[in-house]
Amino acid sequence: MTKPVKQVHLAAHFPGVNNTTVWSDPRSGSHIEFSSFAHLARTAERAKFDFLFLAEGLRLREQNGEIYDLDVVGRPDTFTVLAALAAVTDRLGLAGTINSTFNEPYEVARQFASLDHLSGGRAAWNVVTSWDAFTGENFRRGGFLPQHARYERARTFLQATWDLFDSWRGDEIIADQASGQFLTEAKAGAFEHHDAHFDISGQFNVPRSPQGRPVIFQAGDSEEGREFAASSADAIFSRHGTLAEGQAFYADVKGRLPKYGRTPDQLLILPAATFVLGDTDADAAELARQVRLQQVSGQTAIKFLEQLWNRDLSGYDPDGPLPDIDPDPGENTIARGRASVRMYRDPLATAAQWRAKAAERRLSIRELIIEVTGRQTFVGSPATVAEAISTLVQADASDGFILVPHITPGGLDEFADTVVPLLQERGVFRSGYEGPTLREHLGLAPLKEETSPPSRLPCSISSRSAQAPPPPRRCGTASTWPRPRNASATPDTGSPSTISIPASPGPPRPSSWL
Ligand SMILES: Cc1cc2nc3c(=O)[nH]c(=O)nc-3n(C[C@H](O)[C@H](O)[C@H](O)COP(=O)(O)O)c2cc1C
Repeated sequence: MTKPVKQVHLAAHFPGVNNTTVWSDPRSGSHIEFSSFAHLARTAERAKFDFLFLAEGLRLREQNGEIYDLDVVGRPDTFTVLAALAAVTDRLGLAGTINSTFNEPYEVARQFASLDHLSGGRAAWNVVTSWDAFTGENFRRGGFLPQHARYERARTFLQATWDLFDSWRGDEIIADQASGQFLTEAKAGAFEHHDAHFDISGQFNVPRSPQGRPVIFQAGDSEEGREFAASSADAIFSRHGTLAEGQAFYADVKGRLPKYGRTPDQLLILPAATFVLGDTDADAAELARQVRLQQVSGQTAIKFLEQLWNRDLSGYDPDGPLPDIDPDPGENTIARGRASVRMYRDPLATAAQWRAKAAERRLSIRELIIEVTGRQTFVGSPATVAEAISTLVQADASDGFILVPHITPGGLDEFADTVVPLLQERGVFRSGYEGPTLREHLGLAPLKEETSPPSRLPCSISSRSAQAPPPPRRCGTASTWPRPRNASATPDTGSPSTISIPASPGPPRPSSWL
């Protein structure tokens, strides 16, 4: 039996200033003004993307005790930005990263339920645990917990928010003018949750939202992180975007689902991906080279090297050879607030690999860092990139991609105008949204009976006014959720891609979108 052609899921990541985005490029705009967020969101919606994604940065990252000028210099608050974007978009999903280590379930549940109402059912929550005590110093409550305890807190935090979301069934508001009765029951929203981390009870004050609960994303990559995703998430934001590495991750995480009574279509794998487009593959390759030179200045190359070496290397020439001294294998103290340093689990072995590569190819420090960090995922003409994306998805290396443009806010425009139509022609990407909610865009099955919103929502709590643009109103309409995912009547007629799919995992790559 032939495998059905999978539909590709696409999202746009607004990463902020860092060493993926190039703030020094003349085409770059503000990373904090609303017009930039609105531009990217409108482009993503015009292209029928599933959602816009925001990461969360809770503290300015440091290296050698200083803020690092090509790294993230700040991120505005996630809920504020997503709520504003809800007002200028109609269908695009709105995914926000919010950590479970320093927050409280009641507050986070209120915020996501509110966002889901304001957007007409488009909210998603990327549940992260955050990784270090340095980040936690900003918070005097919650503090820093060891890895296992952070995931345990994440698990019970998520359960507590589910208790809160489900404390409203959705049929409690009748707003009967004749009798003057607003609620069917005085105890609507009553909840109780008691465990080692939370001891809370009361009445939740946001009625059931259109999706019932936000779509749940997860991003951690450890054993604990993967188990957490397999047990509870609807999608994973991963860093495994190559064919081999992507397939391994995909098989690993989807293979963990049965023990939680879940099936592969209940968890989407969406790696971050960068792209460089050109009229021809050769043009794109040359452009990609220039982008890498912008992304990895001499100063940035030394900073990256220091993260592995765990030493001050500021005296080294980025255009010269790698240091003769070995990395300091102790606890990494030079870079603070970065997740990527945790990827260098064996710095001496990685340094040996880098030295061998540099010697073999006669690479300077900067050339080596360009080679081993943050390679672009898709490089080529629009046709090449469309084929590569579809091929990776059909090969179960992912279910789609969260695209990280290197220019803010216009970096997605060309992709929307050139690659998306080709994906649509191939029958692997939607030409119009199937429904109003993000859950529908992602092809996720409805929430289970006991947690799903009722088929009829009273208009009095509908999230949009009568004047609002159509159509996300669910009030008074029957649910149309159950729909098979990944099924397409249109066969994929494309031939297998031969270029631009990185075939091997390569060395650990700092995740500059974090
Ligand atoms: C692809 C990816 C993206 C992440 N994005 C964020 C983020 O935006 N904000 C954050 O605080 N943590 C982020 N994290 C960190 C995770 O929440 C987690 O704290 C960290 O990776 C440690 O967990 P792990 O050992 O399971 O990977 C991200 C992790 C990965 C792998």
